[in-house]
Amino acid sequence: MKKIVILISGRGSNMQALLQAQLPCTIAAVISNRASAEGLSFAAAQGIPTAVISHQDYPTRADFDVALAKVIDQYQADFVILAGFMRILTPEFVSHYCGRLVNIHPSLLPAYTGLHTHARALQDDIKIHGCTVHFVTADLDHGPIIIQAAVPVLCDDTEDVLSERVLLEEHRVYPQAVRWLCDGEVSLIEGKVKFCHQKQASFALISPGLE
Ligand code: GRF
Repeated sequence: MKKIVILISGRGSNMQALLQAQLPCTIAAVISNRASAEGLSFAAAQGIPTAVISHQDYPTRADFDVALAKVIDQYQADFVILAGFMRILTPEFVSHYCGRLVNIHPSLLPAYTGLHTHARALQDDIKIHGCTVHFVTADLDHGPIIIQAAVPVLCDDTEDVLSERVLLEEHRVYPQAVRWLCDGEVSLIEGKVKFCHQKQASFALISPGLE
């Protein structure tokens, strides 16, 4: 059975969705860079080993990443799952986990890389928004895409309402992506995402809807 380590920094709702999805893998540990991350207590209550490696304890980003990798590797993780882990990782860290490091981002990449994706989407008055699970590369939020979910942006949406709509889809697609990884259904080969079987899209989303 594959082993995964999940990295969080805060609330941990995606981590919670992963823990509740009965994935075909062992969740070896949940690690946070913040001791106050709310998700840690949920993981601990499920009997998952937890660890805190505070970035504030290290003089440089590189030092922190080395310490983090050392702990992850003690768990012999096959995959490292970033679930709201709010740290930019060094190219050395990313390359150490090439093809084994995935992230979820709250936008339809390559649109809206970085922070405040929902506010920026509303500002631009776009009609379709969403989330993306992707392999992590040194190019922030630009790694090869595994799965995306699209949601409509409605005319009276606030940032909170839109973010909640996207988050519901995050909780559906992230467990699916990790399941594919653990089952060997999807992998990163020569920088491209390869599926063992052709996955068909569910349906078209048209927003606003047709009359
Ligand atoms: C999610 O929106 C995720 O896409 C982004 O950070 C947020 C984390 O939320 N990377 P949670 O901690 O999983 O609840």
